[in-house]
Amino acid sequence: MTRAPTTGISVCVFDAYGTLFDLSAIVETCREQLGELATRLSETWRRKQLEYTWLRSLMGRHTDFWHVTGESLDYAMKTLGIGDMALRARLMEAYLTPAAYPEARSALEALKAAGHRLAILSNGSPSMLTSATMATGLDVLLDEVLSVESVGVFKPHPSVYALVQDRFDAPPANVAFMSANGWDAAGAAAFGFHVAWVNRAGLPREILPAGPQLEVHSLAELPDLLKA
Ligand code: LAC
Repeated sequence: MTRAPTTGISVCVFDAYGTLFDLSAIVETCREQLGELATRLSETWRRKQLEYTWLRSLMGRHTDFWHVTGESLDYAMKTLGIGDMALRARLMEAYLTPAAYPEARSALEALKAAGHRLAILSNGSPSMLTSATMATGLDVLLDEVLSVESVGVFKPHPSVYALVQDRFDAPPANVAFMSANGWDAAGAAAFGFHVAWVNRAGLPREILPAGPQLEVHSLAELPDLLKA
């Protein structure tokens, strides 16, 4: 399918976990020990992690993403009857050194070479994001790594997306936002960004008040679609 490129873009902003960093690989580090529970642990952990971000935001009880990640892992382990604290420590440690999706580096390099400024905008705490960007070597390609910690509320609160404008002094129409999370894509589109949903899993679109203009299956498609 040929698609017309989106023009007028000067800043390309990426969600982190699930978009640049492969979350499924984190639990793989323990698959030998967990066996078939690995997939269920991974799915429950991620689902609870996101639910807790939304619930804490609604409750006005923010804590950083590292704590939310630990609390959601505790819940997931309890659900599956896993009590091994050494395993818990290994999984949390693995979160600090995730793998990037194989196409992430070349996609970012091509967008940078085309003159776009590049950033991450993530729920992750600053120290988690520093660790992950350094572990994957993507740090050298990014102009900015923005964390929700500076506003104390999680995505998809509009004040999170506003961090991009504060930093880059670019109107939302000049910003392309990429996320593999359909709900994050909706939040960014509601804010006014051009949004590309990285629909790796082939899911249906979320039924929410705003949605992505572009849908791709891999980051590799982006350089041809986002133009200055
Ligand atoms: C993030 C989560 C939503 O990186 O994946 O913000």
